[in-house]
Amino acid sequence: MTAVADRSLGPELARIQTINPDTDVLVIGLTSSENGPAIVPEDLFGDVLPEGIRTELLDQLGAVGAKGKAEELTRVPAPAGLDDVTSVLAVGLGPADKIDEEQVRKSAGVAARSLAGTELVATTLGGVDLGAAAEGFYLGAYTFSTFKSTKSAPKPDEQPVARVEFLVPEPNFGENALLRAQLTAEAVATARDFVNTPPSHLYPAEFADRTRQLAEAAGLEVEILDENALAAGGFGGILGVGKGSSRPPRLVRLTYAGGPKKVALVGKGITFDTGGISIKPAQNMENMTSDMAGAAAVVATTLLAARLGLPITVTATVPMAENMPSSTAQRPGDVLTQYGGTTVEVLNTDAEGRLILADAMVRACEDDPDYLIDVATLTGAQMVALGTRTPGVMGTDEFRDRVAFISRAVGENGWAMPLPAELRADLNSKIADLANVAPHRWGGMLSAGLFLKEFVPEGVQWAHVDIAGPAYNTGGPFGYIGKGGTGVPVRTLIAVIEDIAAAE
Ligand code: BES
Ligand code: ZN
Ligand code: ZN
Repeated sequence: MTAVADRSLGPELARIQTINPDTDVLVIGLTSSENGPAIVPEDLFGDVLPEGIRTELLDQLGAVGAKGKAEELTRVPAPAGLDDVTSVLAVGLGPADKIDEEQVRKSAGVAARSLAGTELVATTLGGVDLGAAAEGFYLGAYTFSTFKSTKSAPKPDEQPVARVEFLVPEPNFGENALLRAQLTAEAVATARDFVNTPPSHLYPAEFADRTRQLAEAAGLEVEILDENALAAGGFGGILGVGKGSSRPPRLVRLTYAGGPKKVALVGKGITFDTGGISIKPAQNMENMTSDMAGAAAVVATTLLAARLGLPITVTATVPMAENMPSSTAQRPGDVLTQYGGTTVEVLNTDAEGRLILADAMVRACEDDPDYLIDVATLTGAQMVALGTRTPGVMGTDEFRDRVAFISRAVGENGWAMPLPAELRADLNSKIADLANVAPHRWGGMLSAGLFLKEFVPEGVQWAHVDIAGPAYNTGGPFGYIGKGGTGVPVRTLIAVIEDIAAAE
């Protein structure tokens, strides 16, 4: 068992009422308008930013072209009177009437990224939205350098900002908001760390061990089924997908028992997806290190529910396997028996996610959950339909819409998609109960959703979230999202769980 690497923790976050001496940078928010930029919030910090200093700052910022456009960055030397700071960084928030939480998160994220190499930052952005600003700073500062040896380790001026202090108007202001933001951002970072850990170092047994360590530290109940237990239990989907690899599969179960309502989470944990015998092209195959992002998100969310002490029961059922081609791999045309007895003809070994999820979903529903949410980097078709930043949300109508709505409210952009009944017949198999793919390309994301639907019992409110694109950023950084694992949809999941816990 490998110890969980002490992850390079994000910046320390704290609340202050006056700017500390030796602060390197003061980050302020700037809105745009026809009359030029304005500093926000307007009057919360009169003692810290008196009228005279504000006017001078605005003059200086205007002189170097600051407009207050969303995520614009302008840095100026600290004006006379702001003696405790070296410079002021103004970050744009766009038009004042359009500022929402997500804008604050994005602007704080962009500011945090530009502050690499800075020790101590103070900011007034907490006066706009403390929770969103804290999440944005923490997530924007995220880096993953575990595999950089001393040869290429981040230099001092590339190190993430070390400490961010949020100016608050009085000592009681925002204590809970900051704590919640910190715990949430840490959970997102945990999911990112798992996704960013390469397949050489994160394979099923290792993923299960690291999950166990984190879960035990958070006081959760943990159960891990190894390949023998999976065989004894009849988990044919997980075994079928895992059998081409020398690194055997696992099924991890975490339970946080916090209250009467029950939410079951299931996440796809393919630690690497070569496609198996239906092998993928070499180009971009390395991105399939992210094929366990659903698993990472549900593990991180379950830990977070426990840390927040939510009054609800959350279970995570997490199948982990490596999809490899070999002489022991399953073949196109093989038939396997899913947990629960459904037989599936495996026409394409690259449609492996649905096979491991089906076993896990049937197992999760043995506990009679009220709600079931499965999360998976399931189909390339998700990206064809919705692009790389919009998760597709399918499932039972009402719950699907609720999850998609909440996902947009937290800035993770989930969009409701249908499960058209006429596509179901294309999953009929000549020799088994079901085929794992349709004989055509149309509606590939929906077809995968329809396959999963076969394994959801009547009466369970179900949402299936396809995050093939949104889980992993292969492009440049934007907002509070860097390259690599994004941690999507941890913030959606925790907000849905909180919404369920709070409802009648
Ligand atoms: N892991 C992939 C889906 C994926 C593709 C995730 C690109 C992220 C980026 C999944 O296992 C897969 O290969 N799906 C196939 C299904 C097809 C064979 C029906 C796909 O989307 O091509
Ligand atoms: Zn695949
Ligand atoms: Zn896959």
